[in-house]
This record gives sequence, structure tokens and C-alpha cells, in this order.
Amino acid sequence: MSEVTVIGLGVMGSAIVRALLDKGHDTTVWNRTRSKAEPLVERGANLAQDAAAAVRASPIVLVCVRDHRVTRDILAVPEVRPHLAGRTIVQLSGGTPQQARESERWIGESGAMYLDGEIMVYPDQIGRPEGTILVAGPEAVFQRCEPLLRSVAGRIIHVGEPIGGANAYGVAMGGVLYGALLGAVHGARVCEVEGVSVGLFARMMAEGDLATISAAVLDLLKRIDSDRYGDSQGTLGTGAGGAEQMLEHARATGIDSEFAVCAAAVFRRGLDAGLGGEDPAALIKLLRR
Ligand SMILES: NC(=O)c1ccc[n+]([C@@H]2O[C@H](COP(=O)([O-])OP(=O)(O)OC[C@H]3O[C@@H](n4cnc5c(N)ncnc54)[C@H](OP(=O)(O)O)[C@@H]3O)[C@@H](O)[C@H]2O)c1
Repeated sequence: MSEVTVIGLGVMGSAIVRALLDKGHDTTVWNRTRSKAEPLVERGANLAQDAAAAVRASPIVLVCVRDHRVTRDILAVPEVRPHLAGRTIVQLSGGTPQQARESERWIGESGAMYLDGEIMVYPDQIGRPEGTILVAGPEAVFQRCEPLLRSVAGRIIHVGEPIGGANAYGVAMGGVLYGALLGAVHGARVCEVEGVSVGLFARMMAEGDLATISAAVLDLLKRIDSDRYGDSQGTLGTGAGGAEQMLEHARATGIDSEFAVCAAAVFRRGLDAGLGGEDPAALIKLLRR
């Protein structure tokens, strides 16, 4: 028997296996497309002939496939499901809290223990100290798997026992990430259309502007956590003015205005609700309605 099995050898699953092998863990692997296992077998992984053999090979099975539905398609079939009993399945495929709870249900009914993880970094950061994985599930099961997971990522955070918690933070982080990425694309297009350097924009961000934005995001989250919206250095009213300018500029130059329309509309709703003198964190009051 090996120490751990990894099912799913895409970009992320392969990075997980390399990290485990580098730390000396006896690792069995399986992937639908067998050729992706070859470089890992060359590094020392054991290749299972099918998914059932992969599950049988180890007490702990990490699954990193496209989504929870694929996990079910692989594990919940008659040839594989009976072998789940007594094993610990650690789901590292991304998903929503609802999908995680559904996986907990059918995996639990199969007699296996279940942890649900959300990988918060890119494959390059796997196996490194800054690699971050959030994990939800029973404390005792987590403690048993923690040393192994620490070989995969240096920053393993147990977010609590209820399954779905890790995915909730994943969805929440996605909001911050996608907002920032869309804003950055919009900003780059503004530079292009005005004939100023995107490279200088990037350097200014690196030299301090991104840090200022990070600090503003942290301040906003702390304010929401403590329901405190007064004494703002930059009120919602000021933000609304900036968002309107961004929209006016997009319309004047004919660049894609979808991002600016959305931002201006949300701030305008805040103004209409009488929140103009409060911190932009007060927009949460609109979202709670
Ligand atoms: N890459 C990242 O930056 C990143 C970051 C955080 C979290 N994640 C999460 O990690 C998971 C894997 O991502 P990835 O980047 O490794 O994706 P990927 O390279 O596209 O790999 C997808 C994996 O899912 C398998 N798969 C897809 N459909 C299948 C099916 N119907 N039956 C059996 N296997 C199937 C693929 O098998 P085949 O090789 O046979 O196609 C492959 O092993 C995702 O849930 C993703 O959200 C990824």
C-alpha cells in the first residue's frame, strides 16, 4: 500500500504529485488520460491501472479534477464506490459550498471520511511555503491529513468543520480577484487609448499603488466585519464621483464600458440610498437587502 493517491493529473494535480514526491511520499497516481502520468511515474510515482486500483492503493486519496461532478463520475461508479469505505477522500477540485456539501453526502454514504479543500494559488506555488490551501472538515480527520497536505502547500488553513467553508472563502476571494483583474484590464485599455505606457502603469502599481489598494480593501473588510462605516478617508460619495468619471471617459473614447457601467451603477445606488457620507464599505448594506 502507498501513503497517498492522487486522482487527476492536470496542471494542478501534476504539481501536487511533484510536491509529494519531492518530499518523499510514496504516491500512487491515476488520470483518465494516461499519458499525463508518464512524467510522474519517471519521477517515482506508482501508476494505478484504473480508478478502483488507485483508491485501493492508499488510505488517503486526493482528488484534483475539473469539478465535483467529475469526481463523482470517477468515484461513484459500481467498480469504484465499494472501495471508498474506510478511506479519506480529500477533494481538491474547485467548487461551490453547495457542491461540496453534496460531495460530503454521497462520499459519507459510501463509508469514507471527507475533507474539502480549496486551492488558493497557482500550480507554480504548490510545494512552496506560500502555497495556500483552505480545508474544511472534521478536526480529527484534518489532523491526520495535515502533515501530508503541508507537503503540498506550506500554508494549510483549517477553516472549520462544516463542509463548504473552504469553498465559501474561495468564492469570496474570487470576487476580489475577478474585480481586480477586470479593473486592471480596463485600466490597461484606458492607457492604450490615451497613448500612455501600460508598462509605466504596471511599474507605478508595483512601486506602491497596488499596496495602497490592498490597504483599502483590507480596511473595507474590517469595517464590514465590525459594522463601522464612519470616519472615512475617502467616502462613498467621492468613490461615486470617480466611478462616474471612469464611465464618462469610456463613453467619450468609445472603449468597452461594461466594467465602468457596473461600477458607476453600484456607487450610484449607494448615493441614492443616502450613503454618500459613509465609507464605500457601506455598499454592503445594499447587498444585504
Ligand atoms: N490551475 C490552477 O491555477 C488552479 C488553481 C486553483 C485551483 N485549481 C483547481 O484544480 C482543479 C484542476 O485544475 P487544473 O488546472 O489541473 O485543470 P486541468 O489541467 O484542465 O485538468 C483537469 C483534470 O480533470 C480531469 N477531467 C476533466 N474532465 C474529466 C472527465 N469527464 N472524466 C475524468 N477526468 C476528467 C482531466 O483529465 P484528462 O487529463 O483526462 O483530461 C484532468 O486530470 C480544478 O478544479 C481547478 O479549479 C486550479
